[in-house]
Amino acid sequence: MTAVTTGAVFGDMVEITSGAASGDRAVLNPPGRLKNGSRVKINEQWMDSGIIVSISKLNKSYHRGDQTIPVLTDISFDIAEGEFLALMGPSGSGKSTLLNLIAGIDQPDSGSIIIGDVDVTTLSETELAGWRALNVGFIFQFYNLIPVLTAFENVELPLILTPLSRAERKAHVEMALRVVGLADRMDHYPGQLSGGQEQRVAIARAIVIDPTILVADEPTGDLDRVSAEEIMDLMDRLNQESKKTIIMVTHDPRAARKAHVIRHLDKGILTNADSQNTL
Ligand SMILES: Nc1ncnc2c1ncn2[C@@H]1O[C@H](COP(=O)(O)OP(=O)(O)O)[C@@H](O)[C@H]1O
Ligand SMILES: [Mg+2]
Repeated sequence: MTAVTTGAVFGDMVEITSGAASGDRAVLNPPGRLKNGSRVKINEQWMDSGIIVSISKLNKSYHRGDQTIPVLTDISFDIAEGEFLALMGPSGSGKSTLLNLIAGIDQPDSGSIIIGDVDVTTLSETELAGWRALNVGFIFQFYNLIPVLTAFENVELPLILTPLSRAERKAHVEMALRVVGLADRMDHYPGQLSGGQEQRVAIARAIVIDPTILVADEPTGDLDRVSAEEIMDLMDRLNQESKKTIIMVTHDPRAARKAHVIRHLDKGILTNADSQNTL
C-alpha cells in the first residue's frame, strides 16, 4: 500500500494524483500517524460514481447466552453523495443498529461498508475512532449535550483534538451556531435552552467538523411538533445548501417527508431495495 502524506489543513480537499491506482485502498489519517490532524478526503472515486456509501451483504447478530438473535440480514444498498435518506421501520427492526454500523460506532459480523474510499468494517477500533472524528456528524434523539458546558463549549468539543488554534476554533463554532440560528445563545447552558434549541446546538456540534456524512437517530423523537418541524427544515437546508449527505432514522412520516429516499427495515431485512420518497 502506498503511503500518502500531505500538508493539508482542516477543511481542505486533497486530490490524490499520484501513487495510487484505481482500486487501491487508502487508509488516511490513522490516529497513530495523525501528525497534524489534517483532514483529507479522497474524493475522486466517489465523485465519479456519485456514491458516497456502499453497503454490501451486511449481517449482524447479537448473542445472549447460547442464543443468537439476528438483527440485520444481508443488507445491501448505496447512498448517493448529497442524498437525504430516511431509514424507517417498526421499533426493534434494526434501524439504530444499521445507523451505528454506517457511523462506525459498531462493527458487523460480515459484509462491507465503504464510505468514500474506506471500508470502515476493516478498521481497528482506534482507526475507526479517528475516522469517525473526522467524517461523521452525529445527531441523537436526546441531544447528548454536556450539561456543564455552554452551547459554545459543546460545539467546540469535536474540534479540541484538531490542530486548529483557539481563534480558528472560535470562528468555526460561531459559524456553526450561526447556521443553526443560535448565534445569540452561545453562552447558554443546555438547561437554559428549549428542546428544539438543544437539538440545534447538537446539530451545530455535528456539522462543525464538516463531516462526510451526517447521521441522525430519531432527531425529532423527543420534540413537539413545531420544534420538530424546525429541525427538519434545518436538516433540509443543510442538505440543500451545504450538500450534506444525511442518513436519518425516523418512524415519523412527517419527518421523513424531507428525505429523497426512504428505505424500510422489517425484522432486519430491507423490504424495499430502492424507493423514491412519495410522502
Ligand atoms: N446491544 C444489544 N444487545 C442485544 N440486543 C440488541 C442490542 N442492541 C439492539 N439489540 C436488539 O436488536 C434489535 C434491533 O434493535 P435496534 O437497532 O435498536 O432497532 P430500532 O432502532 O429499529 O428500534 C432489537 O431486537 C434489539 O433488542
Ligand atoms: Mg432505534
